Amino acid sequence: MTQIGGYVPASTRAGLLGVHSMDHVSIEVPDLEAARRFYHGFGLRVVESGGGLDIFTQVHAHRWLRFVEGPGKRLMHVSFGAYARDMPRFAAHLAALGIERLAPPPGMADDGIWLRDPDGTLLEIKVAEKSSPGEKTRAEFISAPANLRAMPTRDQMPVAVPRRLSHILLFASDIPRAIDFYCRVLGLRLSDEAGVVAFLHGVHGSDHHLVAFAQSGGPGLHHVSWDVASVQDIGVGAARMADLGFSRGWGFGRHVLGSNYFHYVRDPWGSYSEYSCDIDFISADHDWQAMSHTPENGFYLWGPVPPEDFAHNYEIG
Ligand SMILES: [Fe+2]
Repeated sequence: MTQIGGYVPASTRAGLLGVHSMDHVSIEVPDLEAARRFYHGFGLRVVESGGGLDIFTQVHAHRWLRFVEGPGKRLMHVSFGAYARDMPRFAAHLAALGIERLAPPPGMADDGIWLRDPDGTLLEIKVAEKSSPGEKTRAEFISAPANLRAMPTRDQMPVAVPRRLSHILLFASDIPRAIDFYCRVLGLRLSDEAGVVAFLHGVHGSDHHLVAFAQSGGPGLHHVSWDVASVQDIGVGAARMADLGFSRGWGFGRHVLGSNYFHYVRDPWGSYSEYSCDIDFISADHDWQAMSHTPENGFYLWGPVPPEDFAHNYEIG
């Protein structure tokens, strides 16, 4: 079985209809070279393809992001992976719900199911290998035995190596409506919510969230999050990005909802890429009980105060 970043993809939960993975996200940006510099610096593999950029990790052949050039930064579409056996069920499910199936955008394959969410964001359900993990992702604590130096000198600092995309956070104009749509239509489940944010997981086993939502006046992409192996990787990744001129962001800290250690690096367009480690995992056979919190209680356990515009949606001005 193919592995993503060393983790065995999963089991399935027979009978339940739901997407199993975040397959890829397509984003329009005004400067592809700036995107290449940012994501290469972040530790990802950037490949020029068809006039745009495809983003992979260094450790797996799955394409996670697609950048094309346009007048501004804008979320183009979000593609979710599903099992082949579930595609006819999804088609019937959407028809039963009265949800319009759309033609694929120009240049995209026509074997997926295309639709729009309540904020107008274009979504795809496509057959894909399960790229979300099938078990809790291992995290490491780097320590040295006695009489050895644990760390190199700064000029020998290792490079952070993201292992896979963990999740994305989208802006939504109505959080309860977004929860209802993504659960009812795509078969995701609510993990936890804190008023202005909500987190959804996959029913076939996934991290605490595959997709999350933050309150805004309209749609947009807030961040993409990359799993790394250790807190050390979060630190060296953030330090390298600062050396490259990308020092703005938020972290180092630890979230409450999802429990991951985090550091967000601000991209050239006011959205973020997150280094994430040790996020909670929800197994395919587990009925997770979602909890509700106040925003103050659910946002983060510890860390610096976030930048004032951390939750600002620059895609709508
Ligand atoms: Fe995140």
